[in-house]
Amino acid sequence: MELRIYPDPILRKKSEKVVKDDLDKIYSEMVTAMIIFKGIGLAAPQIGLDKSIAVISEQASDDMNKPLILVNPVILERKGEQSIEESCLSVKGVSAHVPRSAVVKIETGPDEERGIIIASGLLAIVIQHEIDHLNGILFPDRLGFLKRRWALIKAGWKKKHGQKD
Ligand code: CO
Repeated sequence: MELRIYPDPILRKKSEKVVKDDLDKIYSEMVTAMIIFKGIGLAAPQIGLDKSIAVISEQASDDMNKPLILVNPVILERKGEQSIEESCLSVKGVSAHVPRSAVVKIETGPDEERGIIIASGLLAIVIQHEIDHLNGILFPDRLGFLKRRWALIKAGWKKKHGQKD
């Protein structure tokens, strides 16, 4: 399984809806990939799957003891502001403080079993980062014009020249 790196076009596409029958297989594939690539979260397009599914490591919250899966997730409500220095496995060599909501209420799950999750702190940030991936948005897109350009040029250059961080 291969990690997709900016400017790979799959990272810019809105992901396809997932149906329940797909879930078990994709879930284990994604958790495995997240562990291999050492991410705190991973969205399906990052490993070349055009599916609206993401996994988040239990490291994102003290309240979790296993990875969280997001399926066709939608943000229903946002509150407050927070920001930490973010980076992304698919955006090489850059990190930046990204403006995010402090609390998010999301709906997630296959059609038959949609559920609500309310998250704050680091978990809320990772959820917003991963849902962005499913909509073709990368964290530099959340920065101001000049910072965004700087970050994407730097990330593209790193990819082209095969540099690792
Ligand atoms: Co990312």
